[in-house]
Amino acid sequence: MKGHQKTLNCWVTGASSGLGREIVLQLAKKGHRVYATARDAAALDALSAAYPACIVPLACDVTDEQAMSGLLAQAEGLQHLDVLILSAGICEYVDVPDIDTSLIRRVMETNFFGAVNACKAALPWLKKAVGSEFKPRIIGISSLSTVTGFPRNEAYGSSKAAFEYFLDALRCDIGHQIQITTVRPGFIQTALTAKNDFPMPFLMQADEAANQVVSRVEQGRLRFAFPWQLDWMLGIARMFPRLWYGPVMRQLLQKSRTNT
Ligand SMILES: NC(=O)c1ccc[n+]([C@@H]2O[C@H](COP(=O)([O-])OP(=O)(O)OC[C@H]3O[C@@H](n4cnc5c(N)ncnc54)[C@H](OP(=O)(O)O)[C@@H]3O)[C@@H](O)[C@H]2O)c1
Repeated sequence: MKGHQKTLNCWVTGASSGLGREIVLQLAKKGHRVYATARDAAALDALSAAYPACIVPLACDVTDEQAMSGLLAQAEGLQHLDVLILSAGICEYVDVPDIDTSLIRRVMETNFFGAVNACKAALPWLKKAVGSEFKPRIIGISSLSTVTGFPRNEAYGSSKAAFEYFLDALRCDIGHQIQITTVRPGFIQTALTAKNDFPMPFLMQADEAANQVVSRVEQGRLRFAFPWQLDWMLGIARMFPRLWYGPVMRQLLQKSRTNT
């Protein structure tokens, strides 16, 4: 984090690939101690090898509440946590009119309950840092898709909207002690978007997106979004719902049908 002298204890979920992985690398490069969580233990070990003194692999499935709750106790020497970054996430698309409820539950389980489990596990450790020079914080990686409705996004968009509300409510309850920031990125080139068969405007590289997160968390913003161009475009779409859900959507769907 920019200009910060103190070594921070950070916990990053979704650390084995994409945005989370790049966030871990950038935090470690600044000398912070980073606890890296994802299911793929081998990927975490490989990541740790880049900065062995700074990156501590803690493999876990975020949907496993019990395992998550005991995870930080396994981190040798950890006294408190300064930063929790919630980046674990999956994306699956719904093929309406077949509303596959098991798919929706799967996505909610990781993106919503996985984040809830991580917050529950981290809170006692973050509370130990309350009153120190650096206000402890939770940074939730949501998505610009929460700004307005998108086709086939019934599972992913709903999970991120629920996640955002959870963070907003948490801010009401503990925001005086723990800074809570919601981040809404646009499209990032990662494994998660590799399957997308539609145009992804203003597509970013993962390191570029990670830099937006790592360099801005210290600002203590309630929410930030990037890239600004997509944020603005979707903000306008939200202001004119009849236009977005009418002629604009008809055109988008027609385009995607002719592309497939
Ligand atoms: N890519 C985009 O365009 C984009 C845009 C906006 C927001 N986001 C958000 O950014 C975050 C990172 O996504 P990404 O694009 O970097 O995708 P990614 O490369 O697929 O990374 C997802 C990460 O989440 C972890 N994960 C998934 N399920 C997990 C589970 N049950 N337990 C623990 N870890 C789990 C994965 O690790 P394992 O498989 O090893 O468990 C992986 O490290 C997500 O929250 C995503 O919704 C992405």
